[in-house]
Amino acid sequence: MFKLDTIISLAKRRGFVFQSSEIYGGLNGCWDFGPLGVELLKNIKEEWWKAMTYRDDIEGIDASILMHPKVWEASGHIAQFTDPMIDNKTSRLRYRADNLIEEFIDKLKSKKRTDKAAELETRLSQVQDNADYHKIIIDFEIPCPVSGSTEWTEVRNFNLMFKTFIGPVEDVNNTVFLRPESAQGIFVNFKNVMETGRQKVPFGIAQIGKAFRNEINTKNFLFRVREFEQMEMQYFIKPGSEMEWFDYWQERRYNWYLELGMKKDSLRFKPHEKLAHYANKATDIEFLFPFGWGEIEGIHSRTDFDLKRHQEFSGKKLEFVDTVNQDRFVPYVLETSGGVTRGLMAFLCNAYDEEKVTDDKGNEETRVVMRFSPKLAPITAAVFPLVNKDGMPEFATKLYKDLQKNFKVQYDTSGAIGRRYRRQDEIGTPFCITVDGQSLEDNTVTIRERDSMNQVRISIDAVKSYIFDNISK
Ligand code: GAP
Repeated sequence: MFKLDTIISLAKRRGFVFQSSEIYGGLNGCWDFGPLGVELLKNIKEEWWKAMTYRDDIEGIDASILMHPKVWEASGHIAQFTDPMIDNKTSRLRYRADNLIEEFIDKLKSKKRTDKAAELETRLSQVQDNADYHKIIIDFEIPCPVSGSTEWTEVRNFNLMFKTFIGPVEDVNNTVFLRPESAQGIFVNFKNVMETGRQKVPFGIAQIGKAFRNEINTKNFLFRVREFEQMEMQYFIKPGSEMEWFDYWQERRYNWYLELGMKKDSLRFKPHEKLAHYANKATDIEFLFPFGWGEIEGIHSRTDFDLKRHQEFSGKKLEFVDTVNQDRFVPYVLETSGGVTRGLMAFLCNAYDEEKVTDDKGNEETRVVMRFSPKLAPITAAVFPLVNKDGMPEFATKLYKDLQKNFKVQYDTSGAIGRRYRRQDEIGTPFCITVDGQSLEDNTVTIRERDSMNQVRISIDAVKSYIFDNISK
C-alpha cells in the first residue's frame, strides 16, 4: 500500500489536482482539477452516464443547484442535516464530537489500552443525544489533539448546508441553500420526467452535479471536502419490490467499479447497521484507501419517504397511476449515490503502482505507472517521432493530428524515447506510438502497451481501430 502523500504529490506534480486558490494559501476543503484531472473526471462521469442512462428505463436530468427553500424542509435537511460539534476553549478549535471520540479510541488501541477503548466504544454506541457525547468527552478526559486541553464547550448541532441569499436583499425570507446532495433535484422532477419521458414504474432518473457541505473537519485530500460532485440515480419502483431492486443495483454498481479496473481486494460492501429513519435497507460500497476503508458510494432503499414528504409540502400529487392494474401509489425509491470527487481519488489510489525495471543500458530503475483503465486514462495515446529529423516529425505530426479527431493525445519529441515512455507511464497513458525510420519506408509504427511494455508493429491505417478495440475491451 502506497502512502497518500505519494499520490497527492504525483497529482500535483503532473497536473491532476491543485489546492483551490493556491497562490492565496488555499481554501480548506476545496480543490481544483488541473489539465489531467479534468480529463479523468470527465471520463469517470462519461462511463457512469453511459452505464446508467444508455438504457430504456433511465432518463438523465441536470437540475439547478439553488432550489426552493421548502425543498430542504421537506427533505429533512433543515432539521436534521447536522453534525454534533464541540469547541475546545483553549485552542479554539472545533471538532465533530463523534470523530473526536473515535480518534481517541484509535489512540487507545494503538497504545494497547484495549479495555478502556472497548468501554468507550460501548458508551459511543449508546449515544442518544448531544449531552451523551459531552458526558463521554468529560468522563474520559478526552484532550484536544492540538492543545492537550480538556476544557470543552457544550456539544451543539451544526447544520452543514451553506446559506446564501437570492436577490439583492439579505433577508431571512430570501435565504437559499447550496444543495448538499443532488438527489432532491430528482425527487422534485419525478412527475415532469415520468410524463415527458413517457416512463412507467419501474424507471429511474440520473444526475451528475455539484453538492456542497460545510463539513466541520475536512480530511484526507479529496475524501471529505466542502465542494464536490455526486453521480446519483433514483429508481422509482412498486412498494414491496425494493429488496429485489436493492440486490440488482448493489451488484451492478459494484461491478461498474470492477469493470473500470478496481481491484477486487480493494472493494467491499459495508451494510448499514443503524438505518436512517426513512430507509429499510442500506449498504456502502467501500474502497481501501491508504488510510483505510472508506465509503465511495451508497445504495439506499428509501421507501416512499421523499416523494411523500414532497407531496405533503408542495401540495402536489406525486403518484404513479398504473392503468393496466387499475392501481395508484407513491413509488418507493432505490437510490445509488456515488461521489465523483471521492471516486476520482479512489481511481487515483487504485491506479498507482511502482515497479523495478531495467533500462536499455542494463541499469535498474523504478517505474511509476498509473494503471488506469484505458477508458479512464486522461491521455489515451502519445505519439513520438524517434528522432526529431529525417521526415519523422512530419509523419508523426500527421498521425497525431488525425488521432486528435477521436482521442485526447499528446505529442512529445523531447529526450530519449525511454524517458518519454516514463513520462506517459506516470500519467497512465495506455498507448505510446513511435514513428521510426521504417515508418517512412512501409507506413508502419510501433505501439507500446503501458502495462506489459510489449510493442507491436502495425500499419498506420490500423492505429485508430487498434485503439478503439483496446479501449472497448
Ligand atoms: N443522496 C444521498 C447522499 O447524498 P451520502 O452518503 O451523504 O448520500 C453519497 O453521499 C456520496 O457522496 C458518498 O458516498 C461520497 O462518495 C460523496 N460525498 C458525500 N459527502 C462528501 C464530501 N464531504 N466530500 C466528498 N464526497 C462526499
